[in-house]
Amino acid sequence: MHVRRKLKLGTMIHGVGEKISDWRHPTMPSDASVSFDFYKQQAQTSERGKFDFVFIADALYINEKSNPHYLNRFEPLTILSALASVTSNIGLVSTLSTSYSEPFSAARQFASLDMLSGGRAGWNAVTSGLEKTALNFSKEVKDHPSHAMRYQMAAEFVEVMKGLWDSWENDAFIRNKASGQFFDPKKLHILNHKGEFFSVQGPLNIARSPQGQPVIFQAGSSAAGIAFSAREADAVFAIMPTLEEAQQYYVDVKEQTAKLGRNPHDVIVLQGISPIIGDTEEEAERKYEELASLVTIEQALAFLGRLFEHHDFSQYPLDEPFPDIGCIGKNSFRSDTDRIKSEAREQNLTLRQVAFREATPRTPFMGTPEQVANLVEAWYEQNAADGFMLIANLPSELTAFVDQVVPILQKRGIFRTEYEGTTLRENLELSYAENRYSLKRDE
Ligand SMILES: Cc1cc2nc3c(=O)[nH]c(=O)nc-3n(C[C@H](O)[C@H](O)[C@H](O)COP(=O)(O)O)c2cc1C
Repeated sequence: MHVRRKLKLGTMIHGVGEKISDWRHPTMPSDASVSFDFYKQQAQTSERGKFDFVFIADALYINEKSNPHYLNRFEPLTILSALASVTSNIGLVSTLSTSYSEPFSAARQFASLDMLSGGRAGWNAVTSGLEKTALNFSKEVKDHPSHAMRYQMAAEFVEVMKGLWDSWENDAFIRNKASGQFFDPKKLHILNHKGEFFSVQGPLNIARSPQGQPVIFQAGSSAAGIAFSAREADAVFAIMPTLEEAQQYYVDVKEQTAKLGRNPHDVIVLQGISPIIGDTEEEAERKYEELASLVTIEQALAFLGRLFEHHDFSQYPLDEPFPDIGCIGKNSFRSDTDRIKSEAREQNLTLRQVAFREATPRTPFMGTPEQVANLVEAWYEQNAADGFMLIANLPSELTAFVDQVVPILQKRGIFRTEYEGTTLRENLELSYAENRYSLKRDE
Protein backbone atom coordinates (compact mmCIF):
# COMPACT_ATOMS: atom_id res chain seq x y z
CA MET A 1 0.00 0.00 0.00
CA HIS A 2 1.10 3.50 -0.75
CA VAL A 3 0.90 6.31 1.74
CA ARG A 4 -1.67 8.83 0.48
CA ARG A 5 0.15 11.57 -1.44
CA LYS A 6 -0.03 15.09 -0.07
CA LEU A 7 -2.61 17.43 -1.54
CA LYS A 8 -1.61 18.75 -4.98
CA LEU A 9 -2.47 22.23 -6.26
CA GLY A 10 -2.26 23.90 -9.65
CA THR A 11 -3.45 27.04 -11.42
CA MET A 12 -4.99 27.29 -14.84
CA ILE A 13 -3.73 30.60 -16.20
CA HIS A 14 -6.50 31.59 -18.53
CA GLY A 15 -6.09 35.25 -19.50
CA VAL A 16 -9.38 37.15 -19.27
CA GLY A 17 -11.18 34.04 -18.08
CA GLU A 18 -13.36 31.13 -19.05
CA LYS A 19 -16.62 33.03 -18.64
CA ILE A 20 -18.02 35.30 -21.33
CA SER A 21 -17.89 38.53 -19.35
CA ASP A 22 -15.18 38.30 -16.68
CA TRP A 23 -13.00 40.56 -18.85
CA ARG A 24 -15.36 43.43 -18.03
CA HIS A 25 -14.70 43.23 -14.29
CA PRO A 26 -12.91 46.39 -13.06
CA THR A 27 -9.95 44.40 -11.66
CA MET A 28 -9.35 42.27 -14.78
CA PRO A 29 -6.70 43.59 -17.19
CA SER A 30 -8.68 43.44 -20.46
CA ASP A 31 -5.58 42.35 -22.41
CA ALA A 32 -4.67 39.60 -19.88
CA SER A 33 -4.79 36.80 -22.49
CA VAL A 34 -1.82 38.29 -24.34
CA SER A 35 -0.04 40.01 -21.45
CA PHE A 36 3.26 38.44 -20.41
CA ASP A 37 3.16 40.44 -17.18
CA PHE A 38 -0.20 38.90 -16.29
CA TYR A 39 1.01 35.34 -16.94
CA LYS A 40 4.23 36.00 -15.04
CA GLN A 41 2.36 37.38 -12.05
CA GLN A 42 -0.06 34.44 -11.95
CA ALA A 43 2.81 31.93 -12.20
CA GLN A 44 4.87 33.67 -9.53
CA THR A 45 1.88 33.99 -7.17
CA SER A 46 1.21 30.27 -7.63
CA GLU A 47 4.85 29.50 -6.92
CA ARG A 48 4.73 31.66 -3.79
CA GLY A 49 1.84 29.38 -2.72
CA LYS A 50 4.08 26.30 -3.37
CA PHE A 51 1.68 25.07 -6.06
CA ASP A 52 2.70 22.03 -8.09
CA PHE A 53 2.00 23.45 -11.53
CA VAL A 54 0.50 26.07 -13.79
CA PHE A 55 -1.54 24.87 -16.75
CA ILE A 56 -2.29 26.51 -20.10
CA ALA A 57 -5.37 25.23 -21.94
CA ASP A 58 -5.71 25.43 -25.70
CA ALA A 59 -7.91 24.85 -28.73
CA LEU A 60 -7.37 25.37 -32.44
CA TYR A 61 -10.53 26.88 -33.90
CA ILE A 62 -12.43 30.09 -33.21
CA ASN A 63 -15.30 32.01 -34.71
CA GLU A 64 -16.81 35.37 -33.84
CA LYS A 65 -18.99 33.76 -31.16
CA SER A 66 -16.03 32.34 -29.22
CA ASN A 67 -15.34 33.58 -25.68
CA PRO A 68 -13.07 36.65 -25.52
CA HIS A 69 -10.10 34.66 -24.16
CA TYR A 70 -10.23 32.25 -27.09
CA LEU A 71 -10.16 35.06 -29.67
CA ASN A 72 -6.70 36.35 -28.83
CA ARG A 73 -4.38 34.26 -26.63
CA PHE A 74 -0.84 32.94 -26.35
CA GLU A 75 0.22 29.59 -27.83
CA PRO A 76 0.84 27.45 -24.69
CA LEU A 77 4.35 26.05 -25.23
CA THR A 78 5.62 29.49 -26.20
CA ILE A 79 4.28 31.23 -23.09
CA LEU A 80 5.43 28.37 -20.85
CA SER A 81 8.97 28.61 -22.26
CA ALA A 82 8.98 32.27 -21.25
CA LEU A 83 7.56 31.44 -17.81
CA ALA A 84 10.29 28.82 -17.31
CA SER A 85 12.83 31.62 -17.03
CA VAL A 86 10.93 33.65 -14.40
CA THR A 87 10.05 30.72 -12.11
CA SER A 88 12.17 27.99 -10.55
CA ASN A 89 10.06 25.24 -8.96
CA ILE A 90 6.59 25.24 -10.40
CA GLY A 91 5.55 22.70 -13.07
CA LEU A 92 4.65 23.97 -16.56
CA VAL A 93 1.79 22.03 -18.16
CA SER A 94 0.62 22.62 -21.73
CA THR A 95 -2.29 21.31 -23.73
CA LEU A 96 -1.43 19.85 -27.13
CA SER A 97 -3.85 18.12 -29.47
CA THR A 98 -3.29 14.50 -30.51
CA SER A 99 -5.68 14.94 -33.46
CA TYR A 100 -3.99 17.95 -35.05
CA SER A 101 -0.27 17.62 -34.29
CA GLU A 102 2.64 15.42 -35.31
CA PRO A 103 4.16 13.31 -32.52
CA PHE A 104 7.73 13.98 -33.65
CA SER A 105 7.34 17.78 -33.33
CA ALA A 106 5.39 17.40 -30.09
CA ALA A 107 7.97 15.08 -28.47
CA ARG A 108 10.68 17.53 -29.41
CA GLN A 109 8.81 20.56 -28.05
CA PHE A 110 8.02 18.95 -24.68
CA ALA A 111 11.55 17.54 -24.29
CA SER A 112 12.88 21.05 -24.97
CA LEU A 113 10.56 22.61 -22.37
CA ASP A 114 11.57 19.93 -19.87
CA MET A 115 15.25 20.64 -20.50
CA LEU A 116 14.84 24.43 -20.44
CA SER A 117 12.94 24.32 -17.15
CA GLY A 118 15.11 21.75 -15.36
CA GLY A 119 12.43 19.03 -15.41
CA ARG A 120 9.16 20.88 -14.96
CA ALA A 121 7.25 20.06 -18.17
CA GLY A 122 3.84 18.39 -18.40
CA TRP A 123 1.61 17.62 -21.39
CA ASN A 124 -2.19 17.66 -21.29
CA ALA A 125 -3.08 15.32 -24.17
CA VAL A 126 -6.42 16.39 -25.67
CA THR A 127 -8.29 15.00 -28.66
CA SER A 128 -9.88 18.30 -29.90
CA GLY A 129 -13.66 18.09 -30.05
CA LEU A 130 -14.44 21.01 -32.36
CA GLU A 131 -15.01 19.57 -35.83
CA LYS A 132 -14.23 22.80 -37.68
CA THR A 133 -10.64 22.56 -36.41
CA ALA A 134 -10.17 20.45 -39.56
CA LEU A 135 -10.55 23.63 -41.64
CA ASN A 136 -7.37 25.05 -40.11
CA PHE A 137 -5.34 21.93 -40.87
CA SER A 138 -5.78 21.43 -44.61
CA LYS A 139 -8.78 19.12 -44.12
CA GLU A 140 -12.54 19.32 -44.48
CA VAL A 141 -15.11 19.13 -41.68
CA LYS A 142 -16.04 15.62 -42.81
CA ASP A 143 -12.43 14.55 -42.16
CA HIS A 144 -12.63 15.43 -38.47
CA PRO A 145 -12.14 12.05 -36.79
CA SER A 146 -14.99 10.55 -34.75
CA HIS A 147 -14.84 10.51 -30.93
CA ALA A 148 -13.76 6.84 -30.90
CA MET A 149 -11.15 7.31 -33.60
CA ARG A 150 -9.75 10.39 -31.85
CA TYR A 151 -9.02 8.30 -28.77
CA GLN A 152 -7.43 5.54 -30.91
CA MET A 153 -5.20 8.18 -32.49
CA ALA A 154 -4.41 9.57 -29.04
CA ALA A 155 -3.28 6.15 -27.80
CA GLU A 156 -0.92 5.70 -30.74
CA PHE A 157 0.28 9.31 -30.46
CA VAL A 158 1.30 8.77 -26.82
CA GLU A 159 3.01 5.49 -27.68
CA VAL A 160 5.10 7.29 -30.32
CA MET A 161 5.90 10.19 -27.98
CA LYS A 162 7.11 7.83 -25.26
CA GLY A 163 9.14 5.87 -27.81
CA LEU A 164 10.79 9.02 -29.14
CA TRP A 165 11.57 10.25 -25.62
CA ASP A 166 13.58 7.03 -25.17
CA SER A 167 15.65 7.61 -28.34
CA TRP A 168 18.73 8.35 -26.26
CA GLU A 169 19.72 6.72 -22.99
CA ASN A 170 20.63 9.11 -20.19
CA ASP A 171 24.37 8.94 -20.63
CA ALA A 172 24.39 8.69 -24.43
CA PHE A 173 26.22 11.97 -25.00
CA ILE A 174 29.85 11.45 -24.00
CA ARG A 175 31.26 14.64 -25.55
CA ASN A 176 34.85 13.45 -25.18
CA LYS A 177 36.98 16.14 -26.79
CA ALA A 178 40.20 14.09 -26.47
CA SER A 179 38.86 10.95 -28.21
CA GLY A 180 36.53 12.81 -30.53
CA GLN A 181 33.59 10.69 -29.48
CA PHE A 182 30.43 12.82 -29.17
CA PHE A 183 27.96 10.04 -28.34
CA ASP A 184 27.82 6.32 -27.62
CA PRO A 185 26.09 4.60 -30.56
CA LYS A 186 24.96 1.70 -28.30
CA LYS A 187 22.84 4.21 -26.41
CA LEU A 188 21.03 5.57 -29.45
CA HIS A 189 17.76 3.83 -30.40
CA ILE A 190 15.75 4.21 -33.57
CA LEU A 191 12.01 3.82 -33.07
CA ASN A 192 10.89 2.77 -36.57
CA HIS A 193 7.21 3.13 -35.68
CA LYS A 194 4.70 2.19 -38.38
CA GLY A 195 1.15 2.25 -37.05
CA GLU A 196 -2.41 2.87 -38.14
CA PHE A 197 -2.16 6.67 -37.94
CA PHE A 198 1.50 7.58 -37.62
CA SER A 199 4.72 6.55 -39.24
CA VAL A 200 7.80 7.85 -37.44
CA GLN A 201 11.34 6.62 -37.88
CA GLY A 202 13.18 8.63 -35.20
CA PRO A 203 15.43 9.07 -33.35
CA LEU A 204 14.44 12.30 -31.66
CA ASN A 205 16.94 15.11 -32.12
CA ILE A 206 17.19 15.97 -28.43
CA ALA A 207 18.58 13.99 -25.49
CA ARG A 208 16.49 12.58 -22.66
CA SER A 209 15.19 15.40 -20.53
CA PRO A 210 15.57 15.75 -16.75
CA GLN A 211 12.31 13.93 -15.92
CA GLY A 212 13.09 11.13 -18.36
CA GLN A 213 9.65 11.85 -19.77
CA PRO A 214 7.43 14.88 -19.13
CA VAL A 215 4.35 14.20 -16.97
CA ILE A 216 1.25 13.21 -18.97
CA PHE A 217 -2.13 14.76 -18.08
CA GLN A 218 -5.51 13.93 -19.63
CA ALA A 219 -8.90 15.63 -19.29
CA GLY A 220 -11.58 13.62 -21.12
CA SER A 221 -14.18 12.12 -18.81
CA SER A 222 -16.21 10.00 -21.28
CA ALA A 223 -15.74 6.22 -20.99
CA ALA A 224 -13.10 6.35 -23.76
CA GLY A 225 -11.42 9.30 -22.04
CA ILE A 226 -11.21 7.53 -18.69
CA ALA A 227 -9.94 4.34 -20.38
CA PHE A 228 -7.20 6.38 -22.09
CA SER A 229 -6.25 8.01 -18.77
CA ALA A 230 -6.18 4.66 -17.01
CA ARG A 231 -3.72 3.37 -19.60
CA GLU A 232 -1.46 6.35 -20.21
CA ALA A 233 -1.92 9.30 -17.87
CA ASP A 234 0.02 10.33 -14.77
CA ALA A 235 -2.69 12.82 -13.81
CA VAL A 236 -6.26 13.64 -14.87
CA PHE A 237 -8.32 16.82 -14.82
CA ALA A 238 -12.07 16.94 -14.30
CA ILE A 239 -14.65 19.47 -13.21
CA MET A 240 -17.37 17.83 -11.14
CA PRO A 241 -20.06 20.03 -9.59
CA THR A 242 -20.69 17.99 -6.42
CA LEU A 243 -18.71 15.94 -3.92
CA GLU A 244 -20.71 12.81 -4.82
CA GLU A 245 -20.05 13.14 -8.57
CA ALA A 246 -16.37 13.81 -7.89
CA GLN A 247 -16.18 10.69 -5.68
CA GLN A 248 -17.80 8.60 -8.41
CA TYR A 249 -15.34 9.87 -11.01
CA TYR A 250 -12.43 9.26 -8.61
CA VAL A 251 -13.50 5.64 -8.07
CA ASP A 252 -13.98 5.12 -11.83
CA VAL A 253 -10.48 6.37 -12.66
CA LYS A 254 -8.77 4.42 -9.88
CA GLU A 255 -10.69 1.19 -10.57
CA GLN A 256 -10.02 1.28 -14.30
CA THR A 257 -6.35 1.96 -13.67
CA ALA A 258 -6.14 -1.04 -11.35
CA LYS A 259 -7.95 -3.23 -13.92
CA LEU A 260 -5.20 -2.50 -16.42
CA GLY A 261 -2.61 -3.73 -13.98
CA ARG A 262 -1.34 -0.29 -13.01
CA ASN A 263 -1.18 0.97 -9.45
CA PRO A 264 -4.20 3.30 -8.97
CA HIS A 265 -1.92 5.51 -6.86
CA ASP A 266 -0.01 6.33 -10.09
CA VAL A 267 -2.87 8.37 -11.58
CA ILE A 268 -3.46 11.65 -9.75
CA VAL A 269 -7.05 12.96 -9.85
CA LEU A 270 -7.29 16.75 -9.98
CA GLN A 271 -10.58 18.64 -9.76
CA GLY A 272 -10.92 22.09 -11.36
CA ILE A 273 -12.47 24.64 -8.98
CA SER A 274 -13.25 28.37 -9.19
CA PRO A 275 -13.35 29.52 -5.55
CA ILE A 276 -14.90 32.82 -4.50
CA ILE A 277 -13.38 33.98 -1.23
CA GLY A 278 -14.56 36.77 1.09
CA ASP A 279 -13.79 37.95 4.61
CA THR A 280 -17.38 36.96 5.36
CA GLU A 281 -19.90 34.73 3.59
CA GLU A 282 -21.82 37.86 2.64
CA GLU A 283 -18.76 39.34 0.96
CA ALA A 284 -18.21 36.15 -1.06
CA GLU A 285 -21.88 36.26 -2.08
CA ARG A 286 -21.49 39.90 -3.13
CA LYS A 287 -18.45 39.01 -5.25
CA TYR A 288 -20.41 36.27 -6.97
CA GLU A 289 -23.34 38.63 -7.65
CA GLU A 290 -20.96 41.23 -9.05
CA LEU A 291 -19.47 38.73 -11.50
CA ALA A 292 -22.89 37.37 -12.43
CA SER A 293 -24.23 40.87 -13.09
CA LEU A 294 -21.67 41.40 -15.87
CA VAL A 295 -23.49 38.88 -18.06
CA THR A 296 -26.42 40.27 -20.05
CA ILE A 297 -29.52 38.15 -20.75
CA GLU A 298 -28.63 38.16 -24.47
CA GLN A 299 -25.18 36.66 -23.69
CA ALA A 300 -26.69 34.13 -21.29
CA LEU A 301 -29.18 33.01 -23.97
CA ALA A 302 -26.38 32.69 -26.54
CA PHE A 303 -24.29 30.66 -24.06
CA LEU A 304 -27.23 28.35 -23.42
CA GLY A 305 -28.00 28.11 -27.16
CA ARG A 306 -24.48 26.95 -27.99
CA LEU A 307 -24.99 23.84 -25.85
CA PHE A 308 -28.14 23.06 -27.87
CA GLU A 309 -26.55 23.16 -31.35
CA HIS A 310 -26.73 26.98 -31.36
CA HIS A 311 -30.48 26.96 -30.84
CA ASP A 312 -32.01 30.46 -30.85
CA PHE A 313 -33.60 30.86 -27.40
CA SER A 314 -34.35 34.56 -27.95
CA GLN A 315 -37.61 33.55 -29.68
CA TYR A 316 -39.23 32.44 -26.37
CA PRO A 317 -40.72 34.51 -23.53
CA LEU A 318 -38.12 34.95 -20.80
CA ASP A 319 -40.28 34.74 -17.71
CA GLU A 320 -42.39 31.72 -18.59
CA PRO A 321 -41.45 28.08 -17.95
CA PHE A 322 -38.44 26.76 -19.92
CA PRO A 323 -39.76 26.01 -23.44
CA ASP A 324 -40.40 22.52 -24.75
CA ILE A 325 -37.75 22.13 -27.46
CA GLY A 326 -38.14 18.41 -28.11
CA CYS A 327 -34.93 16.49 -28.66
CA ILE A 328 -32.73 19.40 -29.71
CA GLY A 329 -29.36 18.98 -28.01
CA LYS A 330 -29.23 15.18 -28.02
CA ASN A 331 -26.32 15.13 -30.45
CA SER A 332 -24.24 17.91 -29.00
CA PHE A 333 -23.44 18.26 -25.29
CA ARG A 334 -25.90 15.55 -24.41
CA SER A 335 -25.22 15.08 -20.72
CA ASP A 336 -25.52 18.86 -20.20
CA THR A 337 -28.65 19.30 -22.27
CA ASP A 338 -30.44 16.36 -20.61
CA ARG A 339 -29.57 17.73 -17.18
CA ILE A 340 -30.71 21.27 -18.05
CA LYS A 341 -34.08 20.08 -19.38
CA SER A 342 -34.83 17.85 -16.40
CA GLU A 343 -33.74 20.46 -13.81
CA ALA A 344 -35.93 23.08 -15.50
CA ARG A 345 -38.91 20.73 -15.41
CA GLU A 346 -38.40 19.49 -11.85
CA GLN A 347 -37.69 22.91 -10.35
CA ASN A 348 -40.18 24.79 -12.50
CA LEU A 349 -37.58 27.28 -13.77
CA THR A 350 -38.16 30.08 -16.27
CA LEU A 351 -35.99 30.49 -19.36
CA ARG A 352 -34.31 33.53 -17.76
CA GLN A 353 -33.43 31.53 -14.64
CA VAL A 354 -32.02 28.62 -16.66
CA ALA A 355 -29.95 30.91 -18.90
CA PHE A 356 -28.34 32.71 -15.96
CA ARG A 357 -27.77 29.51 -13.98
CA GLU A 358 -25.84 28.03 -16.89
CA ALA A 359 -23.93 31.16 -17.88
CA THR A 360 -22.97 32.09 -14.30
CA PRO A 361 -22.87 28.82 -12.34
CA ARG A 362 -22.45 29.01 -8.57
CA THR A 363 -19.43 27.22 -7.18
CA PRO A 364 -19.65 25.15 -4.01
CA PHE A 365 -16.19 26.53 -3.11
CA MET A 366 -17.53 29.84 -1.88
CA GLY A 367 -17.15 31.55 1.49
CA THR A 368 -14.49 32.60 3.99
CA PRO A 369 -10.92 31.25 3.70
CA GLU A 370 -11.71 28.82 6.53
CA GLN A 371 -14.85 27.56 4.77
CA VAL A 372 -13.03 27.11 1.45
CA ALA A 373 -10.16 25.29 3.23
CA ASN A 374 -12.73 23.02 4.91
CA LEU A 375 -14.21 22.12 1.52
CA VAL A 376 -10.80 21.44 0.00
CA GLU A 377 -9.90 19.24 2.96
CA ALA A 378 -13.25 17.41 2.87
CA TRP A 379 -13.01 16.62 -0.86
CA TYR A 380 -9.42 15.46 -0.40
CA GLU A 381 -10.10 13.38 2.73
CA GLN A 382 -13.27 11.84 1.31
CA ASN A 383 -11.54 10.64 -1.87
CA ALA A 384 -13.12 13.06 -4.31
CA ALA A 385 -9.72 14.39 -5.42
CA ASP A 386 -5.98 14.04 -4.89
CA GLY A 387 -5.67 17.73 -5.63
CA PHE A 388 -7.23 20.78 -7.22
CA MET A 389 -6.59 23.11 -10.10
CA LEU A 390 -7.72 26.68 -9.53
CA ILE A 391 -9.60 28.18 -12.45
CA ALA A 392 -9.88 31.57 -10.81
CA ASN A 393 -12.51 33.94 -12.16
CA LEU A 394 -10.42 36.94 -11.14
CA PRO A 395 -6.73 37.45 -10.25
CA SER A 396 -7.82 38.48 -6.72
CA GLU A 397 -9.22 34.99 -6.06
CA LEU A 398 -5.87 33.31 -6.80
CA THR A 399 -4.13 35.77 -4.47
CA ALA A 400 -6.74 35.22 -1.75
CA PHE A 401 -6.37 31.44 -2.06
CA VAL A 402 -2.56 31.62 -1.88
CA ASP A 403 -2.42 34.10 1.00
CA GLN A 404 -5.39 32.97 3.08
CA VAL A 405 -6.39 29.39 2.22
CA VAL A 406 -2.96 27.79 1.65
CA PRO A 407 -1.67 28.72 5.16
CA ILE A 408 -4.70 26.97 6.70
CA LEU A 409 -4.04 23.83 4.62
CA GLN A 410 -0.37 23.97 5.61
CA LYS A 411 -1.22 24.33 9.30
CA ARG A 412 -3.44 21.26 9.02
CA GLY A 413 -0.50 19.34 7.53
CA ILE A 414 -2.18 18.40 4.24
CA PHE A 415 -0.19 20.76 2.01
CA ARG A 416 3.57 21.31 1.69
CA THR A 417 5.38 24.29 3.19
CA GLU A 418 8.37 23.82 0.88
CA TYR A 419 8.90 22.10 -2.48
CA GLU A 420 10.12 18.54 -2.00
CA GLY A 421 12.08 18.41 -5.25
CA THR A 422 13.11 20.34 -8.31
CA THR A 423 11.15 18.40 -10.95
CA LEU A 424 7.39 18.21 -11.47
CA ARG A 425 7.55 14.41 -11.06
CA GLU A 426 9.25 14.75 -7.69
CA ASN A 427 6.71 17.28 -6.41
CA LEU A 428 3.78 15.19 -7.67
CA GLU A 429 5.38 12.14 -5.99
CA LEU A 430 5.60 10.31 -9.32
CA SER A 431 8.57 8.10 -10.02
CA TYR A 432 11.26 8.97 -12.57
CA ALA A 433 10.48 7.61 -16.06
CA GLU A 434 13.30 5.14 -16.73
CA ASN A 435 14.51 4.60 -20.28
CA ARG A 436 13.14 1.26 -21.60
CA TYR A 437 16.49 0.26 -23.14
CA SER A 438 18.51 1.09 -20.02
CA LEU A 439 16.02 -0.96 -17.98
CA LYS A 440 16.48 -3.94 -20.29
CA ARG A 441 20.26 -3.60 -20.12
CA ASP A 442 20.12 -3.56 -16.30
CA GLU A 443 17.95 -6.69 -16.10
C1 LIG B 1 -9.82 21.00 -16.44
C2 LIG B 1 -10.01 20.67 -17.88
C3 LIG B 1 -9.15 21.22 -18.82
C4 LIG B 1 -9.33 20.96 -20.18
N1 LIG B 1 -8.49 21.53 -21.08
C5 LIG B 1 -8.70 21.36 -22.40
C6 LIG B 1 -7.90 22.02 -23.36
O1 LIG B 1 -6.98 22.76 -23.03
N2 LIG B 1 -8.17 21.82 -24.67
C7 LIG B 1 -9.20 21.00 -25.09
O2 LIG B 1 -9.40 20.87 -26.29
N3 LIG B 1 -9.98 20.36 -24.20
C8 LIG B 1 -9.75 20.53 -22.87
N4 LIG B 1 -10.56 19.89 -21.97
C9 LIG B 1 -11.61 19.00 -22.50
C10 LIG B 1 -11.21 17.54 -22.49
O3 LIG B 1 -9.90 17.33 -22.92
C11 LIG B 1 -12.12 16.70 -23.34
O4 LIG B 1 -11.96 17.03 -24.68
C12 LIG B 1 -13.55 16.88 -23.04
O5 LIG B 1 -13.74 16.64 -21.65
C13 LIG B 1 -14.38 15.92 -23.86
O6 LIG B 1 -13.81 14.64 -23.84
P1 LIG B 1 -14.65 13.40 -23.43
O7 LIG B 1 -15.62 13.25 -24.55
O8 LIG B 1 -13.70 12.25 -23.30
O9 LIG B 1 -15.27 13.77 -22.11
C14 LIG B 1 -10.40 20.14 -20.61
C15 LIG B 1 -11.25 19.57 -19.66
C16 LIG B 1 -11.07 19.81 -18.30
C17 LIG B 1 -12.00 19.21 -17.32
